[in-house]
Amino acid sequence: MADSIAEEPDVPMPRKVFVRTLVGVVGAGYAGAVGYPIYRYLSTPARREASAPAVTEVALPEANMPKPGTALSFMFGNRPALLIHHNDGSVVCFDAVCTHLGCTVQFQANESRIFCPCHGGKYDMATGKNTGGPPPKPLRQHNVEQRDGQIIVTRV
Ligand code: FES
Repeated sequence: MADSIAEEPDVPMPRKVFVRTLVGVVGAGYAGAVGYPIYRYLSTPARREASAPAVTEVALPEANMPKPGTALSFMFGNRPALLIHHNDGSVVCFDAVCTHLGCTVQFQANESRIFCPCHGGKYDMATGKNTGGPPPKPLRQHNVEQRDGQIIVTRV
């Protein structure tokens, strides 16, 4: 009688299995390479902000104070901000993230407003109140103080 327990031959991985494995690995890599940028694009600014450490105060050198009638854009933590020096000498600072869909707003001195180029949102340059277009809320205002040769901007 022949032995009923046959030894498995030492066969290399069959070509079919190798090709399937290779297609799976390449497919997973491709899905990650395409999917991650899409995820980052669709991730809302609010979600990104929640994952970053909160910055509550920024000190700028007083030499950075914009001239009257102009504004300075700077980063307040991971968010853009606008420091506006009005012609009457007052200084205000706003979060420069549009309250509609999160685009960065710009100061337009010649139009006396803050403007969002994405969908034409308009804000009052003195108060940050939404005055036109789709933004549903005013811009968040930060507190501004000048002390010890610095401009101290504090999140309210
Ligand atoms: S994102 Fe600013 S108006 Fe739409």
